[in-house]
Amino acid sequence: MTLTQVPAEQKRHKRELHGLIREAIQQKNGFIAFDEYMQMALYTPGLGYYSGSLAKFGAAGDFITAPEMGDLFAGCLAAQTAQILESLQGGVVLEFGAGSGALAAGLLNELDTLGVLPEQYLILELSGELRVRQKETIKSRAAEHFSRVRWLDTLPVNLCGVVVANEVLDAMPVKVFEQDASGKVMEMGVGYAEANDEQTPFRWLPGEAGAELNSAVQALNLVLDGNSYRSEIAFQAPAWIESLSEVLEQGAVLLIDYGFRQAEYYHPDRDQGTLMCHYQHRVHPDPFFEPGFQDITAHVDFTAVALAARRAGFDLAGYATQGAFLLSTGLLDRMALDGSTKAQLELAQQAKKLTMPHEMGELFKVLALTKNFTQPLCGFEQQNHLNRL
Ligand SMILES: C[S@@+](CC[C@H](N)C(=O)[O-])C[C@H]1O[C@@H](n2cnc3c(N)ncnc32)[C@H](O)[C@@H]1O
Repeated sequence: MTLTQVPAEQKRHKRELHGLIREAIQQKNGFIAFDEYMQMALYTPGLGYYSGSLAKFGAAGDFITAPEMGDLFAGCLAAQTAQILESLQGGVVLEFGAGSGALAAGLLNELDTLGVLPEQYLILELSGELRVRQKETIKSRAAEHFSRVRWLDTLPVNLCGVVVANEVLDAMPVKVFEQDASGKVMEMGVGYAEANDEQTPFRWLPGEAGAELNSAVQALNLVLDGNSYRSEIAFQAPAWIESLSEVLEQGAVLLIDYGFRQAEYYHPDRDQGTLMCHYQHRVHPDPFFEPGFQDITAHVDFTAVALAARRAGFDLAGYATQGAFLLSTGLLDRMALDGSTKAQLELAQQAKKLTMPHEMGELFKVLALTKNFTQPLCGFEQQNHLNRL
């Protein structure tokens, strides 16, 4: 597949980020772990993919997330959020990685319609540029609720309410490993090679796996079948879940992302892992193509997330496909609303993309974690596959 390189005017930006990654590689004797590379490529202030000024979301960007398609997703998520806030008789919403701000605006508007506005809508966003965009979106689409929104630099304490993270776990840096047929584990890291402007100066480089990675891979008991097996492990996700557990006193965490339970994630057939890059609406597997200008992601191992959540003191409240969750939270009722034929057609398109098995309906899952909250969640009425994790 041929991908168009970034335009010449972006070359300075590109060289700056290349320089920083190269320095990091040199300082570590020619090898950095892949999670360190991914962290730099996505989150280096001003230069990383999420921290820079690129469009990212929507038609002009590289990919489209559920909240970017319209208000259907936010409307359904609001039904679940409202149930929890009502039962708590108050509380806040905390959204991680709020993207363009579309979900925040949609949730606030729908929670208002349902008469269950949160005391505050908190946003924890790593990217300064995205914060600016979120402010613009909320001001233009949910102006009357803007004063309720607060951007945070760190996690709040004594949280009571609902935490939402849509497509956040997949954007957390992962380690890449390869296990050979004899069972030996190598860490796949990143090395540097001189290159001209048209070539990438970074390449895969195998290194010794440290004790933590080695024992995590051995614990997976992969079926090696005489071949080597390559995949990823996300160490940041469990640490993030633990920090959430420390601050949530009462309420729920709703994690929505693409991924599988562990048995499927590390299936013998998936021997090249799930690392994926998004660039101008094309999906490809090369994380070294134009770092800083493309998204790099890995699917989520929901079993690992659930285990980390239990260890951290959460209860597991629900696990369902996105399609089933949206149907349980009233997607069909929303489709029946009056509107022009054009509006009805647009709604039907959105619903299809969000719920059909070959679109986002099956690959995307919703995992709900709760703390001091025992009421069954409405989003898992039609399907709750916790016992399959
Ligand atoms: C694929 S985008 C999804 C954006 C948005 N939630 C949506 O659905 O359109 C991933 C987002 O996760 C954010 N992110 C990744 N790790 C994070 C963390 N530890 N804390 C907060 N945000 C994070 C990124 O900055 C980015 O905004």
